[in-house]
Amino acid sequence: MVICLKYITTEEIRLWFWCSAEAGSDGLQLQEIEFNHQVSENYQEEMMAGKLDAKVAIITGASSGIGAATAIALAEEGAQVAITARRIERLNEVAQKIEAVGGKALPIVTDISDETQVNSLVRHVHTTLGRIDILVNNAGMAALGTIEDGNPAEWRRQFDLNVLGLLYATHAVVPIFKAQGVGHVVNLSSVAGRITRAGMGVYSATKWGVNAISEALRLEVHKHNIRVTIIEPGLVATEFVDNISDPVAKQALEARFKALTPLQPEDIARAIAYAVTQPPHVNVNEILIRPTQQE
Ligand SMILES: NC(=O)c1ccc[n+]([C@@H]2O[C@H](COP(=O)([O-])OP(=O)(O)OC[C@H]3O[C@@H](n4cnc5c(N)ncnc54)[C@H](OP(=O)(O)O)[C@@H]3O)[C@@H](O)[C@H]2O)c1
Repeated sequence: MVICLKYITTEEIRLWFWCSAEAGSDGLQLQEIEFNHQVSENYQEEMMAGKLDAKVAIITGASSGIGAATAIALAEEGAQVAITARRIERLNEVAQKIEAVGGKALPIVTDISDETQVNSLVRHVHTTLGRIDILVNNAGMAALGTIEDGNPAEWRRQFDLNVLGLLYATHAVVPIFKAQGVGHVVNLSSVAGRITRAGMGVYSATKWGVNAISEALRLEVHKHNIRVTIIEPGLVATEFVDNISDPVAKQALEARFKALTPLQPEDIARAIAYAVTQPPHVNVNEILIRPTQQE
């Protein structure tokens, strides 16, 4: 006879199991109790393991915007964060914020579009911090404008950073993840990786590329307990727009920002923290986040 129903509650899920005073007298019921009990115990263990204490994360493009906010968010969850970009003074500012709240940050200057620098970044982090659990491929730029008026040298820089840089870093960490039997790659795509607009073709092409690479990678590595997550933000208030060189494209994007309340970098950082703190059996494959007022 079943005499009590117990609920185990977490933020996102409720597990239940039956317990019975007469469990031992009913073989079928005992099996059910043991199974449910085991599921709940495993789940609790996995939730504990899902926190980032003792984990090491590399965050590229961490000197500003989404990357800086993500570094802080993951450090708040307990991760040691290797933060990388080209501007050392800005990386040091992010590191100071992290250290001020008791976190650990390792700032490293790297041009992510340079394969040799990316390989030495990954080697340095692995040697210094002993492991690598999470790679957030965030460094990116937008060369917006029409194809007719575009600058091929800028297209090349964009592909070198948004696509090849992401590939170099991923290529360097996957063997480490495989040897550890665990790892997580988080790739920054965009709404522009889902839909394109006039004046956004080349940027969109890089982000469609990020989505294709991410899904292929997931299929290649999922059997090794390696997770892959695509993050697709809409308009986020960062320095991103400041770096657009085409004045017409820049003005058009500024007008789109002014017409709504944009996302903040912390909104995206929370989504990344959500993905990387799930229990090991949960792979959040894709998160698309727009400002509420974005079309
Ligand atoms: N803001 C948006 O509306 C939006 C929307 C969708 C997707 N995204 C994506 O989000 C990611 C972050 O952008 P954000 O909005 O946070 O812009 P951001 O503030 O301009 O950040 C870009 C980061 O990339 C770094 N970076 C640029 N070139 C680099 C290079 N060659 N090597 C290493 N690091 C480099 C920059 O640091 P240094 O200059 O110090 O190197 C900076 O830390 C990008 O991939 C972007 O495509 C942004």
